[in-house]
Amino acid sequence: AAQLNTLAQAAGKKYFGTATDNPELSNSSYVAQLSNTADFHQLTAANSMKWDATEPNRGQFTFSAGDAIVAQAQAHGQLIRGHNCVWHNQLPSWVTAGNFNNATLLSIVQTHCMSWDVINEPFNDDGTFRQSVFFTTTGTSYIATALRAARAADPNAKLYINDFNIEGTGAKSTAMANLVKSLKAQGVPIDGIGIQAHMIVGEVPSTFQQNLQNFANLGVEVAITELDVRMTLPATPALLAQQSKDYQTIITACKRVSACVGVTLWDWTDKFSWVPGTFAGQGAACPWDENFVKKPAFQGIVNGWNA
Ligand code: G3I
Repeated sequence: AAQLNTLAQAAGKKYFGTATDNPELSNSSYVAQLSNTADFHQLTAANSMKWDATEPNRGQFTFSAGDAIVAQAQAHGQLIRGHNCVWHNQLPSWVTAGNFNNATLLSIVQTHCMSWDVINEPFNDDGTFRQSVFFTTTGTSYIATALRAARAADPNAKLYINDFNIEGTGAKSTAMANLVKSLKAQGVPIDGIGIQAHMIVGEVPSTFQQNLQNFANLGVEVAITELDVRMTLPATPALLAQQSKDYQTIITACKRVSACVGVTLWDWTDKFSWVPGTFAGQGAACPWDENFVKKPAFQGIVNGWNA
């Protein structure tokens, strides 16, 4: 049977992978597939490397849950994307409500950032900067501070800025490109742009591949970091067929853009998808159903790598 990472590597990519989360690791059928390295050669922690998990109190770092994901990956020779360092969500209140001044918050960012999806979701959809505690206190300074701290902490890690709604060309993608250009012009370390790709069935932008190429042309690598394709339930054969095409379109685009290094599912099974908990009445976003049975979307990914 076709296997997703085998195909991705045959297409010249570094990896095909998936998000996972600590509670899921107690489900042995789930872990058996998660450990199937022919499908998955890379893991992302869906929650346990975020700021609230890793520095719940100032200067008090706890990596036990994140380490459990790393151990799961290492046991199978899988790569890790560290997710994430600086994000406006899942921030402990000591950061959001701390009323720190510019210099203090920059030093807090510097202490916290060690690697990974260093900057997560810095933009609003219109391309203006999101009014996070970091932006309102430091302007855009926190971005360079975080990236430089991450480089110093782990010279070998690829440093990314990651966002959603930058799948097609448009104001937000232009803002991302301009940010990366300006960071490079200032000599700030930036290796890649992460395109989350939380898609809605039938709505993959026609400019998806062009947009990937536009980012690559800035001289960075690109990765599809959180792929899923949600639909309004119930999942009908027609919706599942369209979803399969959507996965195929995205994978084909990554295949054809040589700077696209890999693709990560935002978990592989509907059983553990974040979608139903956030969008009432929507779901069925992953390539395997909640009983761990492959859906047409699986074949869409295969077709994309074979394109
Ligand atoms: O751990 C608590 C648990 O103790 C409690 O009983 C339960 C009750 O709601 O909540 C649990 O925490 C939840 C956590 O996931 C772990 O399951 C949070 O409520 C829930 O908000 C959190 O959702 C995560 C979401 O980020 C938060 O913003 C999703 O799992 C995670 O998949 C999602 O991932 C994000 C990426 O990091 C960034 N891009 C978008 C993507 C989807 O939102």
